[in-house]
Amino acid sequence: MPKAAILTALEQPLEIHDVDLDKPHAGEVKVRMGASGVCHSDLSVQNGTLMGVAPIVLGHEGAGVVEEVGEGVTSVKPGDHVVISWVPQCGECYFCQRGQGELCKAADASLASGGLLDGTPRFSWNGAPLSQMAASGTFSEVSVIPESGAVKIPDDVDMKVAALIGCGVLTGVGAALNTADIKKGDTVAVVGCGGVGLNVIQGARIAGAGEIIAIDMNETKLQMAKEFGATATINASQGDPVSQVMGMTEERGADVAFEVIGLGPTIDQTITMTRRGGQAILVGVPRMDVMVNIPAFFGIVLQEKTIKGCWYGSSNVQQDVPKLIDLYKKGELKLDELISREISLDQVNEAFDAMKTGEVARSVIVYPS
Ligand code: APR
Ligand code: ZN
Ligand code: ZN
Repeated sequence: MPKAAILTALEQPLEIHDVDLDKPHAGEVKVRMGASGVCHSDLSVQNGTLMGVAPIVLGHEGAGVVEEVGEGVTSVKPGDHVVISWVPQCGECYFCQRGQGELCKAADASLASGGLLDGTPRFSWNGAPLSQMAASGTFSEVSVIPESGAVKIPDDVDMKVAALIGCGVLTGVGAALNTADIKKGDTVAVVGCGGVGLNVIQGARIAGAGEIIAIDMNETKLQMAKEFGATATINASQGDPVSQVMGMTEERGADVAFEVIGLGPTIDQTITMTRRGGQAILVGVPRMDVMVNIPAFFGIVLQEKTIKGCWYGSSNVQQDVPKLIDLYKKGELKLDELISREISLDQVNEAFDAMKTGEVARSVIVYPS
């Protein structure tokens, strides 16, 4: 019986319980977790920003070792190390066939249902079904996920680092390298320098940005942003960040600006600080009632701005996970530095509190091996 962290109802602290876990069905794999990052999206399910079917095992940024495979599984075998992809990409649907696996139709259905690809979870608790966040549920010692959600990695990659790749790194670095079109020498602005924003910053550096302006309200995060490649910082709690970006760009605005928080006001700021003809990339996940407030003519048409959403860093996980590991091994991606705290599963609520106060890039749950 694995131990798991369960959200029983909105706004409640997570509870640690022993849960039942079914065997992997056909096309599924059982993974013993090595580590799981605690991402803002976990908090977003707890506070209702993101939909979740409670009771639910949260956690979607994980890595582990395959323990058992269901019928027909060919891409991984017991003993393989894997990164969990919270968008299991089927490879066959309309979107996967067009190189947009992050929008996979099969994955969408599981995200909404709280189950795996057939809509049912493999966890149960007190005899009733227990949902798993984003076809993963990495806040559990063991989980069963779709085969397409298990991306094989070399055995020598540290589990904590591998876990972070599963969400924050794929999303942040992918936003810069896949979603946006950053040209060499571009001025990039990044609003929000948490676990995901720091990855946007290092992605922008790898893409060849000339200037990278990091914007946050927390000084510690701004210091970290510099280590990850920011060339200038703006503390948004001390004056309007839009006018400061304008001041740094001859009143033009940034060539590419990223919003990596998910708040209405910072989304509007990000679009406004994007230059005429530039790109505003929206990465942070807002509440469902948040609207974009930009004048259609003066703000968009006349400005010829591109406003682009970013889901999971527009990643093709089978191609991008090995690419990111390669960049990490070459020393171009800082991943160890993202880990502010290593915790055990029963400290997960403390990790949520640390995230609310903005004091950590990432807390990472390390499971006993
Ligand atoms: N202006 C500037 N910075 C802000 C503001 C603001 N008004 N409000 C919050 N921040 C900063 C915080 O100080 C913190 O550093 O935004 C950062 C958010 O970071 P995290 O909480 O670590 O969130 P992260 O895990 O990076 O996720 C960011 O991406 O994937 C999505 O659901 C996720 O919407 C979330 C976003
Ligand atoms: Zn996440
Ligand atoms: Zn698909």
